[in-house]
Amino acid sequence: MEKFDRTNYCGELDLSNVGEEVTIIGWVQRKRNLGSLIFVDLRDRKGIVQVCIKDNLDIPDIRNEYILQVTGVVTKKEVENKNLKTGAIEVVASKIILINTSEQPPISTAEDSNANEDIRLKYRYLDLRRKSMQDRFVIRSKIVKATHEYLDSHDFIEIETPYLAPSTPEGARDYLVPSRIHKGCFYALPQSPQLYKQMLMICGFERYYQIARCFRDEDLRADRQPDFTQIDIETSFLNQDQILEMSEGLLQKIFKDTIGYEVKLPLRRLDYEDAVNIYGSDKPDTRFDMKIHDLKALFSNCEYENFKTSTYVRGILVKNIADVTSRKKQDEYNLLAQKFNMKSFYCIKVLNNTVEGGITKFFSAEEKAKLTEIFGAENNDVIFIASGNIRKNVAFGLGALRSFFAKELNLIKPNTFDLLWVVHFPLFEKSEENGEITPCHHPFTRPCDEDLPKLREKPYEVYSYAYDIVINGYEAGGGSLRIYDQNVQKEIFEVLGFTEKDIQNKFGFFVEALKYGTPPHGGLAFGLDRLTMILSQTDNIRDVIAFPKNLNAVCPVTNAPLKVDEEQLSTLGIKIMEEENE
Ligand code: AMO
Repeated sequence: MEKFDRTNYCGELDLSNVGEEVTIIGWVQRKRNLGSLIFVDLRDRKGIVQVCIKDNLDIPDIRNEYILQVTGVVTKKEVENKNLKTGAIEVVASKIILINTSEQPPISTAEDSNANEDIRLKYRYLDLRRKSMQDRFVIRSKIVKATHEYLDSHDFIEIETPYLAPSTPEGARDYLVPSRIHKGCFYALPQSPQLYKQMLMICGFERYYQIARCFRDEDLRADRQPDFTQIDIETSFLNQDQILEMSEGLLQKIFKDTIGYEVKLPLRRLDYEDAVNIYGSDKPDTRFDMKIHDLKALFSNCEYENFKTSTYVRGILVKNIADVTSRKKQDEYNLLAQKFNMKSFYCIKVLNNTVEGGITKFFSAEEKAKLTEIFGAENNDVIFIASGNIRKNVAFGLGALRSFFAKELNLIKPNTFDLLWVVHFPLFEKSEENGEITPCHHPFTRPCDEDLPKLREKPYEVYSYAYDIVINGYEAGGGSLRIYDQNVQKEIFEVLGFTEKDIQNKFGFFVEALKYGTPPHGGLAFGLDRLTMILSQTDNIRDVIAFPKNLNAVCPVTNAPLKVDEEQLSTLGIKIMEEENE
């Protein structure tokens, strides 16, 4: 029988092993043939070590990505290779066994491989041979371990909930699974375990968590996947402060156990309205300043008609770019402004201790002086102003511009983490798709007590006990206190336009459950993938998922989703409609 014994990992050998005979197993990263000597870089999950093969040794054919078992003595190198963790030593081989061969790999497995992402994703099993990629999965695994430890020590129990479920509304489309037994009926893969975890509170479990897979059919972005993982938590009888405190403790442990970073508690809390007004975002990156200033009062009597009549006039200051803000650059910024929905957008340079050019000819001397004062503007700065009657366009537009300049001008210090809570979200918002009233979080979020009387008349003025954890400008998690009164829950459904029949069809089981002594409860879910992205310092969610989907929602390794044969479809009672142009 084959034996694959090793005494050490390649990447763990160091000067303390000098003189020892070791057996290592690994993949050939690289081979250099110097005639009388052959050097092989052998790689395992802990790293790379150099193997030195002298010409008197009988050896098999050795090529890149072959798997070898090498026995030899660890020897101190005359000249250390500073680029390699094990670079002070090498293994002088006395025996080499070929465990398996490999075809010539289509992408390099070296750290500096510059293959494009499409091909890396197709050959993911080669792409993930790189240590820098594997390290991200070590971080991911440590996050999960820290989570289990922390929540276990806080009396939480882990409970699994079904994947074949009814649809839960989290704002995305569902992935549907047809039922063979009940033809024409579908399960929905859960967008989150929201309703199940609430029912677990009705069961009386009091403290639940789950590392839960969620499925959402939505437009993909660099921080979104169709199937992703949440650290999902629900508690009974805790108020918002207690839930935030418990969650902060978990985050603190996660940061410490994965990357040794000390998060200082308590975390800052920012009201949603302030986040939007000051940073132009509900997930502000506060690692850099560049605050938005409200200029409406300043320009309330301005000769420039647009500023006088617009409900919102706001601006940001970008330091020290006036000299490089050419006409051409301004055109680029104008295009960017259009993309960010800022219809009226102005670029004002600060030169000779005052503001110059363009619309500033309409400003009084006092307005000019005040404008520079508000921003603390200095020569060579640029003030960007947006105006309009829709707050979202002006505020979020400037927020997007703020992020653009932070990247463009490298304003963010590397290796910094900025964690904060955004709290007190509105309960509802207008859907961007169809203009209809829709929940900001989900329809089970509890409205603030003082706003309850406004629920029907002024729903957009109702705020909620909802909170998001924001890290470095990412929404890393979110949750809320939940409605535990069946009448309030019904009212919310009605405000959202559900008929009695809709409510019965979609949530009848849940409204029924709420009737039987529902404890006050609340919770949240962290995005495990996003946390891993942040902690492993990548801005691409695909880097932290072993087999991710690409931006077309295709798995490039397996090519899923795939067509299935007619027989399988007919068993499910499904007929595919012909595409019109096929
Ligand atoms: P929410 O929809 O805010 O809340 O999701 C919680 C967190 O999950 C992550 N997330 C995603 N990560 C990757 N890809 C996606 N497509 C994706 N969508 C969401 C984010 C987000 O903050 N049931 C509620 C939680 C609760 O109220 O307890 C929920 O799912 O990091």
